[in-house]
Amino acid sequence: MRTVRGSIGWGVMAFLAVSISLAVVPQYLTADETRMFPQQVETYLANLTPIVGHVAGGAVALLLGPTQFIPALRRRRSLTFHRWAGRLYLVGIAIGGFFGLWMAFLAYGGFVAQAGFFGLSVAWLATGAIAYRLIRNGDQDHHREWMIRNYALTFAAVTLRLWLGVSQASGIDFDLAYPAISWMAWVPNLLAVEWWIRRQRGLKATRRDAVPA
Ligand code: HEM
Repeated sequence: MRTVRGSIGWGVMAFLAVSISLAVVPQYLTADETRMFPQQVETYLANLTPIVGHVAGGAVALLLGPTQFIPALRRRRSLTFHRWAGRLYLVGIAIGGFFGLWMAFLAYGGFVAQAGFFGLSVAWLATGAIAYRLIRNGDQDHHREWMIRNYALTFAAVTLRLWLGVSQASGIDFDLAYPAISWMAWVPNLLAVEWWIRRQRGLKATRRDAVPA
């Protein structure tokens, strides 16, 4: 059972995932250069396979992710959906992450931005692989925790664009902001979910210990 706060949180997460996908994905899948990241149009047109592969894989993961956190869809009778959506999600991560590593070398903003995106790709692929291995071994609790970490990284596609909005609204120079945002888009997400995972573990242990004598 989910709490009211949990349902609101899920709703905000799903809304942002769908909105960002609608706002930034179609132009790359149709190679509409008038709506691409302006400073990178030439780079993207010269590297259409990696950018389209990355965006398509990333969008699959971003859109499917929220469905995996609906408790009703993880019950025994709905497990087939959870399993197939989970497999498709991980295929999205594998394709999006592989091309993400590639795109990192082409990223705008020099070495700092490239290192930020490269680190994000490595963490994205690694957390997905760990989560998959855990569920193959039947360890549901740790699988869930690693999938939460993994989706926090997928959600970098959202937080990156929110930080870009904040930096533009504050009048910070784009060339200064972009390399910082390539790190801020994912490191705080990981720290936030790490805090949440540990808090949940603590609450579970307290409930277990509180069994009346
Ligand atoms: C979480 C792992 C991800 C990594 C490592 C990553 C990495 C990158 C890199 C390196 C670029 C090139 C940036 C540049 O040219 O400066 C890029 C661009 C892009 N990525 Fe991702 N990305 C990730 C997730 C996603 C997801 C989930 C989506 C789905 C919406 C996505 C959509 C895009 C789009 C649309 C662009 C083009 C730039 C723009 O218009 O904002 N990415 N990504």
